Amino acid sequence: MRILSGIQPSGAPHLGNYFGMMRPAIKLQEQGEVFLFIADLHALTTSPDPAKLRERSLDVATTFLACGIDPARTVFFRQSDVPQVSELTWILSCCTSVGLLERAHSYKDKVAHGFVPNNGLFSYPVLMAADILIYKSHLVPVGKDQKQHLEITRDIAIRFNNTYGEIFVIPKEQIREDVAIVPGLDGQKMSKSYNNTIEIFSEEKAVRKKIMSIVSDSKGLDDVKDPATCNIVALYKLFADDSQIAEMEAKYRAGGYGYGHAKQALFEIMWEYFAPLRQRRAELMKDIPYVENILRESGEKARETAEATMKEIRRAVGLR
Ligand code: ADP
Ligand code: TRP
Repeated sequence: MRILSGIQPSGAPHLGNYFGMMRPAIKLQEQGEVFLFIADLHALTTSPDPAKLRERSLDVATTFLACGIDPARTVFFRQSDVPQVSELTWILSCCTSVGLLERAHSYKDKVAHGFVPNNGLFSYPVLMAADILIYKSHLVPVGKDQKQHLEITRDIAIRFNNTYGEIFVIPKEQIREDVAIVPGLDGQKMSKSYNNTIEIFSEEKAVRKKIMSIVSDSKGLDDVKDPATCNIVALYKLFADDSQIAEMEAKYRAGGYGYGHAKQALFEIMWEYFAPLRQRRAELMKDIPYVENILRESGEKARETAEATMKEIRRAVGLR
């Protein structure tokens, strides 16, 4: 079984990325061959700053390696190191209806949040379909926000296969329901585009400040509180075991436990959870050539796989 996922280097990885995609993908290394890439071509749709793009790509690379990507088992590479993906994007564009793309929520969402509605942003799902289909991936671990992109990918693959023959595997998404949407500081989906993230590897002071700024209702220290509707509890649950969760919920229901206390507990559990990973990442940051080398070698492997598929496709569509 081939497992594939990607992440845009559009900002420092945050808790939503970690629990929604990174940790599930890292776990899947035990079950099959994982292809994982830094979606730098996708990031171009919204980040036109070259220096930042380079810096953030390395940030994502060191973060993934620190969190447990094993480069001996997993093909961990840069999307743009495989030019065949761009070639396939064009071919797939020619069997994708404009109506299908017009229905994409993420395009409408990004435009509503002020991003320039460029053609790259509009065709984003076609590039994503090319990423998935070129490696004949079976399973794609992603957060819930990517569900529609997988539906679009399947639509495109089915249409292509019907026209040109059974070349593509029809992929499935894997969405962990327990962490399907990690809430941000304001309660919306945590996202780099919404300025509501808690980054996993920020400095202690910065993490503390972010956690202290989580929005809650205006109940006072003594009031009884509802753990089911509280963002702080939702985030705490990502780290805590069952008894720790039950304990916090009981304190909420009893009163005399303030949101400030809950935020402090969240800070402590998060800081401790990431401590060993932080250490590993600090070491990687001192050896960037090692990181670059992993990306380069994996990029070669990914290119070989992609080129094999492209040979079939060029023949099938009549380009050779
Ligand atoms: P962002 O929205 O911050 O730009 P990306 O689009 O780069 O994040 O997402 C990378 C991966 O992380 C995707 O699989 C996405 O589904 C997952 N992800 C992002 N934010 C969240 C979230 N708040 N909850 C769960 N998964 C998320
Ligand atoms: N669109 C994904 C996101 O924003 C990133 C991505 C690009 C991706 N290509 C992919 C994810 C292929 C899975 C498979 O999160």
